Amino acid sequence: MTYDVKDIKLAVGGKKRIEWAEKDMPVLGLIKKRFEREKTLRGIKISACLHVTAETANLIRTIKAGGADVLLCASNPLSTQDDVAASLAKDYGIKVYAIKGEDRKKYYSHLKTAVNFRPQVTMDDGADLLSLLHTTYKSQAKEILGSMEETTTGVIRLKSLEREKKLLVPIIAVNDAKTKNLFDNRYGTGQSTLDGIIRATGMLIAGKTVVTAGYGWCGRGFAMRARGMGAKVIITEVNKIKSLEAAMDGFEVMPMREAAKIGDLFCTLTGDIGVIRGEHFKLMKDGAFVCNSGHFDVEIDIPALKKMSKKINKNINENVDEYVVGKKRIYLLGEGRLINLAAAEGHPASVMDMSFSTQVLSTEFVVKNHQKLEKKVYNVPEEIENWIADLKLKSMGISIDKLTSEQEKYLRSWEIGT
Ligand code: ADE
Repeated sequence: MTYDVKDIKLAVGGKKRIEWAEKDMPVLGLIKKRFEREKTLRGIKISACLHVTAETANLIRTIKAGGADVLLCASNPLSTQDDVAASLAKDYGIKVYAIKGEDRKKYYSHLKTAVNFRPQVTMDDGADLLSLLHTTYKSQAKEILGSMEETTTGVIRLKSLEREKKLLVPIIAVNDAKTKNLFDNRYGTGQSTLDGIIRATGMLIAGKTVVTAGYGWCGRGFAMRARGMGAKVIITEVNKIKSLEAAMDGFEVMPMREAAKIGDLFCTLTGDIGVIRGEHFKLMKDGAFVCNSGHFDVEIDIPALKKMSKKINKNINENVDEYVVGKKRIYLLGEGRLINLAAAEGHPASVMDMSFSTQVLSTEFVVKNHQKLEKKVYNVPEEIENWIADLKLKSMGISIDKLTSEQEKYLRSWEIGT
């Protein structure tokens, strides 16, 4: 069997969803047309470990159009859109291994299938695939021409491998491209995280005290959108500059132990472990909602919450578990996994258009330049970013000014002063 999906009969709905997303991905569409002509990825075997969504389906179709042989597995057990997975397998002939709600064993067996495919190029969202290629399947790493990493957490893991001189393949840090993080991390996460929270709880955001842990691009985006919907937003941070920035952006900034007492809704977006712990749960109000929009489910100390709860009512609403702590109820959303993908559909296609165009052009760059690449973490080449920004602007009907020759000369010169 060349796929493992929940139900292949779901393909009809999945195809509609993929085509609906496609209309909001014009830049990726242009690349797909060029790939169909040029076949720059001809014969290249690619394993992609990504969230299996309609937007990812369009990325995979583009890579296939370039001539690659592609396998896709899930980068998170809860983020798969089962109908999309079915359609990718049935309508587009992609090897898909992803089932929403798969347990840890299944998740890793799918990852292993992706490694056993013997890819020459990999794409990761969180570095789980590359992590296998640096441990159990180390001997296979030499077959890899290069790998793309989609998210902050993955880049952090890979940079630590690089620092310890253990990195075995060249990496392109797609996450660090401006065409990715300024838009996907900020506007994508901002909107889709609130979408997930609202779908899970039906809560009115106006008037709530919303505690945002982390003020990176994701935290900034979430805080900005929560404020826009009428919430009082508190930021908790460990970084001094980011804390200052949050304060001057007009947010209240305080430690989690203070925020824990007054928050109605808590959302972690830090990329770190143990951000909301037992000591914080103890201080929370009755009925507090807690969720995570960082990559892994480690930001909220769920084992501690379980330990201190006398009763757990699972799924009292879809994607909501009630933890009874003494006389208080604490509501954990989406089992502490990425709430925007667990309870909603992830970022809108329009923003994934930029992220995935960056992915695809980085893949082409790796295939064309792998002989020159060392075992390092590289940034996405600037020409790729400029090309994507230019086409995205055009697709939005926006034209911008050009430098005059006088301005160009002025910017190059040092002679003209006061
Ligand atoms: N990450 C966040 N949103 C996503 C989406 N819609 N598709 C794939 N990966 C995502």
